[in-house]
Amino acid sequence: MDAISFVFLFLFLITPLSYCLTTLVLIPRPCNGTSKVRSLPPGPPPLPLLGNLLWLPPSFSRIGTLFAHLRAAYGPTVTLHIGRRPAIFFMDGHVAQAALIHQSSAFARRPQALGTSRALGSNVHTVNMTDHGPHWRLLRRALTSVALLPRARQWALEALVDDLTSAGAAGENEVSPTEIFARALFRLFSLLCFGEELEESTLWAVREAQVGIISLAVKLSVFNLLPKIVLVVFWRRWMKLIRLRRRLDDLLIPIIRARSRDQLAVKEIPRCRSMASYLDALLGVELEDEVRRRRLTEEEIVNLCSEFINASTETTSAALQWIMANLVKQPHVQDKLVAEIASVMGANKQTVEEEDIKEMEYLKAVVLEGLRRHPPAHLLLPHTVAEEREVDGYVIPRGAVVNCSVAEIGRDEAVWKEAMEFRPERFMVGGEGEGVDLTGVRGIKMMPFGAGKRLCPGMGMAMLVLQYMVANLVWRFRWVEVAGKEVELAEEPGLTVAMKHPFLARLVPRAP
Ligand code: HEM
Repeated sequence: MDAISFVFLFLFLITPLSYCLTTLVLIPRPCNGTSKVRSLPPGPPPLPLLGNLLWLPPSFSRIGTLFAHLRAAYGPTVTLHIGRRPAIFFMDGHVAQAALIHQSSAFARRPQALGTSRALGSNVHTVNMTDHGPHWRLLRRALTSVALLPRARQWALEALVDDLTSAGAAGENEVSPTEIFARALFRLFSLLCFGEELEESTLWAVREAQVGIISLAVKLSVFNLLPKIVLVVFWRRWMKLIRLRRRLDDLLIPIIRARSRDQLAVKEIPRCRSMASYLDALLGVELEDEVRRRRLTEEEIVNLCSEFINASTETTSAALQWIMANLVKQPHVQDKLVAEIASVMGANKQTVEEEDIKEMEYLKAVVLEGLRRHPPAHLLLPHTVAEEREVDGYVIPRGAVVNCSVAEIGRDEAVWKEAMEFRPERFMVGGEGEGVDLTGVRGIKMMPFGAGKRLCPGMGMAMLVLQYMVANLVWRFRWVEVAGKEVELAEEPGLTVAMKHPFLARLVPRAP
């Protein structure tokens, strides 16, 4: 720590620390009057001043163990006192359904943005931070209007196959595909976002800024409970975060302006070099504020595009990585999948298309099993309630932070036989996952995309991308485990849960 940081630490941190800790942050405070506290869901007894802070594992990577332990000790609905408001976790599909589906509007709210998100501007209209209401509906509609056109996905697939082939040629056919998947999906979702292929230098500069923002925001988010202290002690990281956010503005605002000019000119010049995109939909959005109708600002559009690319790329590439790793580890599942593809395609067709995918039940089962066993997000984004509600016989007080343990629910041994095994057959006729409903309306057995009003609006697109990529990747190459470098399925939690040890595979091109 340098001298300036030390002075800041002494002047601004030490003196107010005891006040902050005791009055603002660490005292668990009921939000609904003392009589209701008795009816909160059970949980570890909070310590004076510290609440349940000591219950949190030292590393985020052990959060899964924490939920398993809490569930065994207290049942499927648990309260933790971590910040100013109680945090309530649902760890069972029935309880999650009772809240997110049967009381969907009440549980569709988000808590107020935390310090880091506010500084990045995401309280100004990103889909996930906009309160449940007409603006949020308009933004979700803009997102769900984006179509995954065949030429877009074909272009992304060919780039991915080229990258895998070059990586294989450079490494005697041994490939570490994790980063290659992430780049291919970043390309694809950027195309869907902006409607045109960005120049390579711009594309990768946007990715660098996005990845930098996410990793700094994750590091700083630990301190979201104490935002002012973050500013003082971690001011270098903070300034870097602000610089990266400005860099993103510098990169994206020219694209937004050019696209907006194109839209104005579209009446006279039919546009053919590009395709309809999320950005086009956003440029058309008219919000109705209290006093006037207005278009989205450039800053809001930057936030929304950035959210679109992050929310889609990180999750989908993590899911693709887990699915392909399991197909390498279990060659009999890969062979069964290839046999299904061959039966639908005939031997000579090179690319599996959307209409082929519709006939492939086992392909869908493989993707569902990947999402059940390895959900990219182990928790939902936090929800809250504006009014006191009741779930599972307990009071959920107004303003409580509410979340669901997605991973626990998808691995519940009471619902899934040998839940930790990767076995796509469970989704076929007669299996315990047959006809599973990903929206949760007909019951929640797994919820990789959430459930209820805040259900992921990219679910349909993500399912199509995953089925399309998995089918074509195994149709083009045989994915073989490398002797001595076996696939390990350990998890590395972060914003999304990726593989702790990215897998290696030998890629053998299949005869055309
Ligand atoms: C395998 C891929 C994906 C997974 C597992 C996933 C998962 C999730 C989850 C768990 C949530 C939180 C739901 C809640 O808080 O209740 C969410 C929200 C969201 N996702 Fe996804 N997602 C995926 C792909 C996508 C894609 C492709 C897009 C965009 C094209 C997207 C955009 C969003 C947005 C904007 C939200 C916030 C919705 C809201 O608050 O109303 N996601 N997603």
